[in-house]
Amino acid sequence: MDFDFSQLPAAERYRLMTAAITPRPIAWVTTQSAAGARNAAPYSFFNMMGSEPPIVVIGMGRRADGSHKDSTANILETREFVVNLVSETDAAAMNLTSIDAPSDIDEIALAGLTTAPSLAVAPPRIATAPVAMECRLYQAQEIGRATLIIGQVLRFHVRDEFYDPASRRLDTAAMQIVGRVHGAGGYVRGTDLFELDRPNWAAWRDAWVE
Ligand SMILES: Cc1cc2nc3c(=O)[nH]c(=O)nc-3n(C[C@H](O)[C@H](O)[C@H](O)COP(=O)(O)O)c2cc1C
Repeated sequence: MDFDFSQLPAAERYRLMTAAITPRPIAWVTTQSAAGARNAAPYSFFNMMGSEPPIVVIGMGRRADGSHKDSTANILETREFVVNLVSETDAAAMNLTSIDAPSDIDEIALAGLTTAPSLAVAPPRIATAPVAMECRLYQAQEIGRATLIIGQVLRFHVRDEFYDPASRRLDTAAMQIVGRVHGAGGYVRGTDLFELDRPNWAAWRDAWVE
C-alpha cells in the first residue's frame, strides 16, 4: 500500500504520520503572555536539532478557526518559553494541560502544577519535571497551518537526583520520561531498551574483505 499525499485530506495524512512516526518525545511547554498570563501545553512534534548552538524545534498547529494556539501566540509575542520533559508521575497532569480551555484559563493552576522561577526567561518552569530547558525563540517559520518554533536553549535544569556530578552523567532511566505513540491517548515508557555498537569503517572494511 502506498499513499499519494497530494490526494489525501490533511486529517488522513495526520493519522498516518502520527501513527508511524513514533515514539515522539513530548515538550511540555510553559509560556507567559506579555500581560503575564501563564500557559502550559504538551507538544510532541518536538526534538533537538543541534548542540552548537543548542537548538530545539517544536511543530505547533493551529486551532480549527485558523488562529494560533496560546503557546504559539505567547512565544511569538515574547520570544520566550520553557520546554519541560514529562515523567510518568506527571503524565496525567501533562495530558490535562492539553485541554481546549479558553485563553484566559491558566492550565498551570488547572492541573495543580508546582512551578519554579526560571533564570533567563519570564515563563516559569515546572518544578516536578526531571529536565526543564529555558529557551529563547531563534526563529519562527510558518509552513501552511504549522508554526515551527525554533528555540535556542539558554539554561538546562536537571533535578539533582538525576545527575551525577562525578561522572557528569544523567540517569535517563530514573527520569521515567514518557513519549507519545499511535492512538488518541497513546503513550510509551522508555523501559524496553537494547544497544547496538556504533560501526567503525576501518574495522568493518578489514572484516569485510577477508
Ligand atoms: C501528548 C500530546 C502531544 C501534543 N502534541 C501537539 C503538537 O505537537 N502540536 C500541536 O499543535 N498540538 C499538540 N497537541 C495538542 C495541544 O496540546 C492542544 O492543542 C493544546 O490545547 C494547546 O494548548 P495551548 O493553546 O495552551 O498552547 C498535543 C496534545 C497532547 C496530549
